[in-house]
Amino acid sequence: MDTNEFAVLKLFVIGILVNAWMMRGLSATDSLNTEPTPPRPRKPCNESWLQWEMEVCGEEFKRDMGHIDPQYWCNLTYFISEYHLFTHCTETKSLIAYCYWPNPIVESYIVRIHKHFFSNCTIEQVVLLDPPDDTLTILILIPVFLTLAMIALVVWCSKRSDILA
Ligand SMILES: *[C@@H]1O[C@H](CO)[C@@H](O)[C@H](O)[C@H]1NC(C)=O
Ligand SMILES: *[C@@H]1O[C@H](CO)[C@@H](O)[C@H](O)[C@H]1NC(C)=O
Ligand SMILES: *[C@@H]1O[C@H](CO)[C@@H](O)[C@H](O)[C@H]1NC(C)=O
Repeated sequence: MDTNEFAVLKLFVIGILVNAWMMRGLSATDSLNTEPTPPRPRKPCNESWLQWEMEVCGEEFKRDMGHIDPQYWCNLTYFISEYHLFTHCTETKSLIAYCYWPNPIVESYIVRIHKHFFSNCTIEQVVLLDPPDDTLTILILIPVFLTLAMIALVVWCSKRSDILA
């Protein structure tokens, strides 16, 4: 995998994590929020179940992306809402499978999805998009930009561990 591609993957993984934390904060003040937040008895993470549920999320995302012309697959403006749904799906499924979110299964699945859809995108293509009008898009984008600084660090660390491995 070349460095650029890898940076894009990391950008997305980190971006959505921060985004989801932010969204969680937003939805906490939302009266329509029906997400259960009871302190339920903590069972061990059911990994096989989670794996299966990730496939379900992935299939939905693939179906949604199928409605978008592949020439726009690198343009965040076009797929951000689908992407947000996908992220939300992984979060919900992690909860029902008693897993923390994020977790390695979810992360590696997201990386797989990115390899499938965004392997040909350059970081410039994905990041240098025009400021969109849609408020939700802006809300989702802000953390992505904020985390750009972290990405350099993550890529650097990964390179280090590649060398050490
Ligand atoms: C994990 O989930 C599957 C599907 O719901 C279930 O059949 C299985 O017993 C669960 N495994 C554990 C260890 O709870
Ligand atoms: C990426 O480019 C390769 C070679 O041009 C092509 O075969 C592949 O389908 C492309 N993948 C995506 C996700 O567009
Ligand atoms: C993404 O699409 C929007 C809307 O069509 C367009 O304004 C923008 O220039 C595109 N960005 C890139 C990087 O192609």
